[in-house]
Amino acid sequence: MERFLGRPKFFWNKDRRTNNLRQVYMDHGATTPVDPRVKEEMITYFSDEYGNASQMYQLGQHAHMALELARERLAKLIQANPGEIIFTSGGTEADNAALKGIMLTKRTEKNHIITSTIEHAAILNTCKYLEKQGIKVTYLPVNKHGLINLEDLKTAITKDTALVSIMHANNEIGTIQPIKAISEITHDAGAIFHTDAVQTVGKISVDVQEMNIDLLSMSSHKIYGPKGVGALYKKEGIKLEPLIHGGGHEHGYRSGTENIAGIVGFGKAASIASNSLFEEKKRLAKMRDQLITNLLTIEDSRLNGHPTKRLPHNTNFSFKFIEGEALILRLDDRGIYASTGSACSTKKLKASHVLLAIGLRPEIAHSSLRLTLGRGNTPEDVNYVLKIIPEVIQELREMSAFTKETEEYVMQLKDPNNHDSEN
Ligand SMILES: Cc1ncc(COP(=O)(O)O)c(C=O)c1O
Repeated sequence: MERFLGRPKFFWNKDRRTNNLRQVYMDHGATTPVDPRVKEEMITYFSDEYGNASQMYQLGQHAHMALELARERLAKLIQANPGEIIFTSGGTEADNAALKGIMLTKRTEKNHIITSTIEHAAILNTCKYLEKQGIKVTYLPVNKHGLINLEDLKTAITKDTALVSIMHANNEIGTIQPIKAISEITHDAGAIFHTDAVQTVGKISVDVQEMNIDLLSMSSHKIYGPKGVGALYKKEGIKLEPLIHGGGHEHGYRSGTENIAGIVGFGKAASIASNSLFEEKKRLAKMRDQLITNLLTIEDSRLNGHPTKRLPHNTNFSFKFIEGEALILRLDDRGIYASTGSACSTKKLKASHVLLAIGLRPEIAHSSLRLTLGRGNTPEDVNYVLKIIPEVIQELREMSAFTKETEEYVMQLKDPNNHDSEN
């Protein structure tokens, strides 16, 4: 594998380079490229300013100052105080720290968590683990657009509920939950509110004070920062047991020598996002709507997720009679990078739990395509995608054994009132 390191972009696909094929990356929900301005700020902290932020001498203090500047920048992006930001190794760790940390603090008095069926694996698998430790978990269902029902939350919440964790926006279908209303119901019942905001921070406005959030997870690589860095916002006064013990870094909430270069990158990415969020949101939403309007003209297509309460850069479609994986590979051949099903676990060929939760039949869930726009995308990219996708869908449908006729036949067989097939 070492021979692959440091090779030029797309070296593995000679045709793609020599044929000058257009490259369109539309998988920004999975990850984003590091912004060159972020990279430039990080570079210094590898070999020049390499000090340990805990040391008193100047080299250490430079690292310490860089760490605190990043904390301020992150805090500004979500309207928090710098002292409320705990740096972690990413969104997954922030989610784990919130859920396990609260339950370790609370479980002698309260033993119940409420979450939703469409959360990211970082929440769902943490909840499964906590269930094995004897904690009760309620998974709220969602409607056909991916929204939870506030009445369901009111019914599920009890005096025993320690924590409600509902994601701000879904990573697959982009649906944005009514966070302020959810936090209000949670607080009225005396519970703590956490939200996984990995897909929203830096993309749409997030104000932890206005939304009355107690704990919030973020990730750097979704906002043009480096991978392996994230943060947990913890409102002052909320008690949390740390997951990682050691030298007491991050005010004792997350020990371990800080990843200064990574954190500097996250801070710079947050500051760029703070300054460009409003304009970028508008630019992306315009391209998103163009994708939606045009791709829905393809026969037997549907949009997954809420028609309006959705992330400005997210689209998610199902195209009947094709396999999402085949579509992704064909698009890859044409230089388009997109995803199907659950992007964070694409290697599993299981239908996405999110698409099943909004009520799609497994075969429709398997035919999904997620296009997530980002900073590098232009209207020309959108035009290219709009030209290629209908062609590829037609090619795949011509080859597919599953057609409208076979679908009708299968539906007939499943119909309990249909006795034709009985002999
Ligand atoms: C909603 C959500 N939560 C958590 C994560 C995990 O974040 P990280 O990759 O930084 O661990 C992701 C990543 O895709 C996500 O989309």
